[in-house]
Amino acid sequence: MDYHELMNLAKDASKQSYSPFSRFAVGAAVLAKSGKIYTGCNVENSSFGMTICAERCAIFKAVSEGEREILAVAIYSPNSDDCNPCGACRQVMYEFQGDNEVEIITESLSNLNIRKLSEYLPYGFKI
Ligand code: THU
Repeated sequence: MDYHELMNLAKDASKQSYSPFSRFAVGAAVLAKSGKIYTGCNVENSSFGMTICAERCAIFKAVSEGEREILAVAIYSPNSDDCNPCGACRQVMYEFQGDNEVEIITESLSNLNIRKLSEYLPYGFKI
């Protein structure tokens, strides 16, 4: 899979961001093991704690369509260079990591960074 394509889908998804409170838009695109791609954006709420991040939005869409393993997640924010996943999203990615380590793609200064989930979350928790 061309990660530039995955990043472009994350960029498109960031345009759907509902972020009137933070004004910080995020989009994510998830490549699942089936080969299908799922996108998401952050969706905020007046009750702030109910906000969901773009990454979890996309991953939960994938899981709700039957996916159980994700391979790669591209993340983009028009408001930040090298927009990285929060701790909660890292743990959710870990849950749906299979034999292949999840790759996380971010963009800085128009270049793609490709990093492994273990760099973000060493010693992840699983039951
Ligand atoms: N946000 C994401 O969507 N993904 C991240 O990894 C970090 C934060 C969202 C949540 C909130 O709507 C806004 O960015 C500011 O925190």
